[in-house]
Amino acid sequence: MSDPPFRVRAAQDEDRLALATLFAAVASERTGIATEPPVDVEARAAAWLLDGDILAEAGEEVVGSIHIDASRHGFGEIGMAVAREWRGRGVGSALMEAGIAWANERGLHKLCLSVFTQNDAAIALYRKFGFVEEGRRVQQYRRASGEFWDTIEMGLLLEPSAGRNDL
Ligand SMILES: CC(C)(COP(=O)(O)OP(=O)(O)OC[C@H]1O[C@@H](n2cnc3c(N)ncnc32)[C@H](O)[C@@H]1OP(=O)(O)O)[C@@H](O)C(=O)NCCC(=O)NCCS
Repeated sequence: MSDPPFRVRAAQDEDRLALATLFAAVASERTGIATEPPVDVEARAAAWLLDGDILAEAGEEVVGSIHIDASRHGFGEIGMAVAREWRGRGVGSALMEAGIAWANERGLHKLCLSVFTQNDAAIALYRKFGFVEEGRRVQQYRRASGEFWDTIEMGLLLEPSAGRNDL
């Protein structure tokens, strides 16, 4: 099998603007992630948390990223996005694989996330990696359209041996 046309690596300081630009583009779709326009790209870039951030790049272009917000209580909360034209080509799966490896290395015992109930692609990706539904939040997000959207809470328990108490 040939190598995928993208590579996955830890995000670095010089990636901030590209990460924030991708985030703003996905926000402008108003479907998958909670944030909607307007996005202040410069401010997002400056505030971007690099610890726990892994990106996918094709050539010089950042085409996806996953962020794991590691809590000191041992769980990590995931946010992720792939550029629209790159979806369905394994970028999300490669990012999730790298994210799970990062979480195991960090000694987290669990990963979790919230996903809009109608986000079939994301739910399929999470199920593929073993995430299970843990509950639903009703009318959790007020959208710019005036609608209220429900979320599914999903979780993945990691290797028990990876859990540490010195986080
Ligand atoms: C969710 C998202 C990250 C998935 O990334 P991706 O690169 O398309 O994912 P992959 O190509 O690795 O596909 C992963 C699995 O999801 C499934 N899938 C992909 N697109 C799908 C779709 N439109 N409908 C149903 N299932 C889909 C496939 O079955 C695939 O599994 P397979 O490899 O066994 O075929 C991407 O769609 C995205 O960025 N969406 C907008 C932002 C978003 O919703 N973020 C998540 C917020 S919770």
